[in-house]
Amino acid sequence: MALSILDKNEDLRRAIMDVAEVAGYIWEKGWGERNGGNITLNVTDYFSSVAPQSLDIPSIDLPVALPYIAGMYFYVKGTQKRMRDLARWPMANGCIIRVSEDGLSFQMVADEPIAPTSELPSHLMVQNYLVQSGSKYKATLHTHPIELVALSHIPEFLDDTKYPNHLTTTLWSMIPETLAFAPLGLGIVPYQVPGSLELAQATLEKIEKYDVTLWEKHGVFAVGTDIMDAFDQVDVLNKAARIYLDACATGQRPTGMSLRQMKEVQSVFSLPTKRII
Ligand code: 13P
Ligand code: ZN
Repeated sequence: MALSILDKNEDLRRAIMDVAEVAGYIWEKGWGERNGGNITLNVTDYFSSVAPQSLDIPSIDLPVALPYIAGMYFYVKGTQKRMRDLARWPMANGCIIRVSEDGLSFQMVADEPIAPTSELPSHLMVQNYLVQSGSKYKATLHTHPIELVALSHIPEFLDDTKYPNHLTTTLWSMIPETLAFAPLGLGIVPYQVPGSLELAQATLEKIEKYDVTLWEKHGVFAVGTDIMDAFDQVDVLNKAARIYLDACATGQRPTGMSLRQMKEVQSVFSLPTKRII
């Protein structure tokens, strides 16, 4: 039997086992019902040389040209695959793809050919932006965290023009750690059809500024240096959303930390206000 690509590459195996671990957390948290959510990880560093495009494997067109990730390798969750299954069998529920030299198509290079997630446009357009901007971020995560999605049904939190940064400020004010560990806050992407190019484009615009964006009435899309980092930021923001909703469940609106208290946390911990490459 042919060796799995992971058996031949220990560093790649470790990176993918981290993805599997996070997939398990997502299932346990109730954020990954059925096939809900998807993960992409830039694994190019684990390949010592870029193999030439194989003529034996079919090429699949990308929806848009992605020149900055040309020739790069990504681990991608399979479409319709479950996070709880990926947690145990990452290579049977995801695949490694290689983007072509011209950035117009990709091939599945290992192990079994598994069709990539339907949210591939968002994942790869954001990965393309990360490489283009010289970022060290390698992971992109889409998931359905219950409390954040619940807040995306509340109109006052969606209208960023009427109440600028209202949702971010509310979440930051729940506990100081939210501000410390999700210092860029939460961008908001108005509802778009799942898997659409419009959703990918709107996500890309927000990801230039935020590490986590809320897809209205759907889920979140996050970026991170690695998959644990992307997961942690969603977890921190969702915890704040949970505290907010639990406080509201007492029948009262939580006051939250004051602006002065939040500014104090920002200055004591020298928190960044924009992404540090
Ligand atoms: P996939 O199964 O295609 O990854 O889709 C899951 C999802 O959450 C779509 O938004
Ligand atoms: Zn989804």
